Amino acid sequence: MSRLSPTGRKALLTLHLVTSLSWLGADLVLLALGVAGLRGADAEVVYPAAGLLVTWLFAPLSVLVWLVGLASALLTPWGLLRWRWVLVKFAITTAMLGLVLLLLAPTVRRIAELGTDLTTRDRLDLIIPPTVSTTLLIVMTVLSTYKPWGRLRPAAPVARRPGDRARSRM
Ligand code: HEM
Repeated sequence: MSRLSPTGRKALLTLHLVTSLSWLGADLVLLALGVAGLRGADAEVVYPAAGLLVTWLFAPLSVLVWLVGLASALLTPWGLLRWRWVLVKFAITTAMLGLVLLLLAPTVRRIAELGTDLTTRDRLDLIIPPTVSTTLLIVMTVLSTYKPWGRLRPAAPVARRPGDRARSRM
């Protein structure tokens, strides 16, 4: 059962789309900076810029996307534990949130402080994680539109009265 009015639900969905697709955009910018760094662009420009991007945009967006995604599940008829596509998105986003806050953000900040003293391994730290996360975000966008795999549990039977019309959309 939805706890939101149709207007409230549209507003929440809009917020969900703006935050999650901004997360994808920020991730692509991070990847572009990583590629620039690997190709020899000025490390004292590229990596501090990546540090700022992660600290002020990517990490805060990770928290916001997780919260708004959770609200989109709990406050709509989709629920968190009813449909496989919702639960899989929640699991992936939760894992990504942990990795961004505990691993990616500290790593990028460390690299930003190294100046020009960087190994190829350091430079790859700004290529591999954004490649993986961008792929996961695209996968989640596809899951959201196709909504595959059906329900986790069968729907509870609903008492129908003669003349009731079947619901075709959620
Ligand atoms: C905590 C993680 C997430 C949860 C629990 C979640 C859950 C949901 C739910 C329940 C809806 C349907 C909302 C409605 O019909 O009003 C939805 C829509 C959508 N979500 Fe997420 N989401 C999460 C993260 C993401 C991420 C990371 C992306 C993309 C990068 C994303 C992309 C979308 C898109 C494109 C839709 C619109 C689908 C449509 O209207 O057909 N979501 N999400």
